[in-house]
Amino acid sequence: RKILASELPGAQVIVVSNREPYIHNLKDDGDVELVVPASGLVSALEPITRACAGTWIAYGGGSADRQTVDQNDRMEVPPDRPSYTLRRVWLSEEEQQGYYLGFANEGLWPLCHIAFTRPIFRASDWKAYEAVNRKFADTVVAEARNERPIVLVQDYHFALLPRMIRERLPEAIVITFWHIPWPNSEVFSICPWREQILDGLLGSSIIGFHTQFHCNNFTESVDRFLESRIEREDAAISYGGQTSLVHAYPISIEWPPTQLENLPSVVECRDHIRARFGLDEDVKLCVGVERLDYTKGILDRFEALEELFTHHPEWIGRVVVLQIAAPSRGTLPAYQQLYEDCLQRAEDLNQRFGSEGYKPVLMVAEHHTQEQVYEIYRAADVCLVTSLHDGMNLVAKEFVAARDDEQGVLLLSTFAGAARELLEALIVNPYDATMMSDMLLQAITMSPDEQRRRMASLRDIVRDNNVYRWAGSMLLDAARLRKRGAIDRATA
Ligand code: G6P
Repeated sequence: RKILASELPGAQVIVVSNREPYIHNLKDDGDVELVVPASGLVSALEPITRACAGTWIAYGGGSADRQTVDQNDRMEVPPDRPSYTLRRVWLSEEEQQGYYLGFANEGLWPLCHIAFTRPIFRASDWKAYEAVNRKFADTVVAEARNERPIVLVQDYHFALLPRMIRERLPEAIVITFWHIPWPNSEVFSICPWREQILDGLLGSSIIGFHTQFHCNNFTESVDRFLESRIEREDAAISYGGQTSLVHAYPISIEWPPTQLENLPSVVECRDHIRARFGLDEDVKLCVGVERLDYTKGILDRFEALEELFTHHPEWIGRVVVLQIAAPSRGTLPAYQQLYEDCLQRAEDLNQRFGSEGYKPVLMVAEHHTQEQVYEIYRAADVCLVTSLHDGMNLVAKEFVAARDDEQGVLLLSTFAGAARELLEALIVNPYDATMMSDMLLQAITMSPDEQRRRMASLRDIVRDNNVYRWAGSMLLDAARLRKRGAIDRATA
């Protein structure tokens, strides 16, 4: 936190993301409801923006968003303790369709994740993506109080924005963080606009990924498709007369999480959740919490449960998988199909292994507040994070942060960035149903002592590498760049 305040005195911090941290929706009864979206990006960036008292520019997607802003489309948030400015950008149906649903979520999202979902590239989506990036660039320029803001550009919705900002605010520090994996250059090459995307990103002063592996993939892609100079030792790419640093900054969460402030003890959370879902005291509760997304390996964990019941029938009746799946991108065919498949699979398993008063799979496809999610973490015996591919995955870290009782087991996919740090989790390959069911068995039979040993070590890691450190190290690098720039200018 200290770094945020001291290293960049007086600098204005502007965050840009597609998803806004607070959504206002109009309810059927005419009331306005406030929703914090299910997004790892939002949960990580929110405490940082509060600490910097910055400006956050995002798409105003809520049905009551326009009602809550001033005439400059701004509002102070969080609504209960205002500490930074949210500037909303409005997008038409067509813009959303082409830029967000189309190019970002049917093109780049499957391109960057190994989930074997074919990316769809349409020229019309690309046009909308460019136009919306331009619209956000205009907004950044309008919000900048001087020539030299620090702009934190978030994620794959804005690959072109860094260059557009650089052209209009050449002195700005632009730090772009790519929250999802970066594919190898062979996979990346199928994107018809690969050169433009790389060129856009290289408008950044710093480009950040969660892991070194994704930095390497990015650098290889640049090497293959652009005329550039790569200085591997300094992790720097010189291109078009400008240098960008490419660094790994593993994202994290706030420690301790504010969500815990109002929650009762683990025992009370456990009792409450068990009562809510009608679970017997001796049932092992395994939870999955995520957006309903085909990268998350939801069907694969159902598969593992089936394996477990087939090979260890003594567990039938004593294990429940509670799957919380926040609806997401629901108008896209791939997401609709996944929803149907999940319901179908849950139904099959419940038919086959369920009995009077017992359903082994509880599929709850509803949005939950962050407090509700933390309550579920505290009530769980096991947390299932079995993503097929994930930049980081903050659910894994949130579960650890929620367990101040040092109990509970984390089953974590080796293909989530979090597996590089959370070594005391039970690491699994979600494609290997036998391994997953073996690990599930290990999780539900783990002694309290071993749980405590593992959880204590996981908690040390998340506490030390919290989100302030993530932002702090990026801003520290930015401060160094700025000083270097000042020195270069003075000696020129
Ligand atoms: C991932 C992306 C974020 C996105 C979030 C939720 O975590 O990296 O950029 O906000 O998913 O998805 P949505 O499309 O609902 O914003």
